[in-house]
Amino acid sequence: MQLEGNVAVVTGASSGIGRTIAETFVREGGKVAICDINMGGAEKAVAEIKAAGGDAMAVEMDVTDEDAVNRGVDAVADRYGRIDTMVSNAGIQIVHPIEEFPYAEFRKLVTIHLDGSFLLTKACVKHMYPRKSGSLIYMGSVHSHEPSALKTAYVAAKHGILGLARVMAKEGAKHGVRSNTICPGFVKTPLVEKQIPEQAQNLGISEEDVVNKIMLGETVDQTFTTMEDVAEVALFLASFKSNALTGQSIVPSHGWYMA
Ligand SMILES: NC(=O)c1ccc[n+]([C@@H]2O[C@H](COP(=O)([O-])OP(=O)(O)OC[C@H]3O[C@@H](n4cnc5c(N)ncnc54)[C@H](O)[C@@H]3O)[C@@H](O)[C@H]2O)c1
Repeated sequence: MQLEGNVAVVTGASSGIGRTIAETFVREGGKVAICDINMGGAEKAVAEIKAAGGDAMAVEMDVTDEDAVNRGVDAVADRYGRIDTMVSNAGIQIVHPIEEFPYAEFRKLVTIHLDGSFLLTKACVKHMYPRKSGSLIYMGSVHSHEPSALKTAYVAAKHGILGLARVMAKEGAKHGVRSNTICPGFVKTPLVEKQIPEQAQNLGISEEDVVNKIMLGETVDQTFTTMEDVAEVALFLASFKSNALTGQSIVPSHGWYMA
């Protein structure tokens, strides 16, 4: 049990990577707040965790709503008495060439990823700083380091998250709080399944070519990263015994990006 007594706030935890991180933390003895706009999914995840003997709570939270973020994080601290780990993971994907990218969609994506990470960090450090400890974990992407066509909004937001996380390594240090970013390659989740036909249409290529050439073309072994791979990195960062590891990005991507 690597996270006995550890309390984690995980956003976007109703689905995909966030949900697997929540389940992994509970498996290791942690208590997890499943924060999402999808309350049906959050409550289902909590019910399954409880049925397996774990401890979790569902929190309705739109990460772009400052009051909802503050209220939600405070409710977790009230229920469990502390917050040790933040995983800022909620996200969406929208792809268009820039000349067809509606500004409203650009703003929507950047606000969820970047403003959401800012608001969540601000709400969590309020509970971490007085205890002189905490682990901030941000969900970046290989796109925090590498660009891809059609992804102006996503690549800009994911680069921004890396900057935010690095600033938090500096600001958090004197409060005993570390800050790191996980930068996965492509993982087959609902967010990625949706992109395959969209990119095929935008680029005028087959769905098979989107997978083999665009998504996996730069990996060393043409293999998708899995939700479990990403969750194990999150567990490593949450359970690390000191603050030696701060300001870093870790890139589980089958060698797509070599940091
Ligand atoms: N799937 C990949 O290949 C991949 C690769 C690198 C990084 N990521 C990142 O991982 C994170 C999770 O993605 P995923 O693939 O698991 O996607 P997903 O669609 O399975 O899950 C995203 C979750 O975020 C929630 N969400 C969306 N908007 C929200 C909001 N405003 N407030 C709160 N919750 C909100 C959704 O309801 C959903 O539960 C994202 O930040 C994504 O950018 C994904």
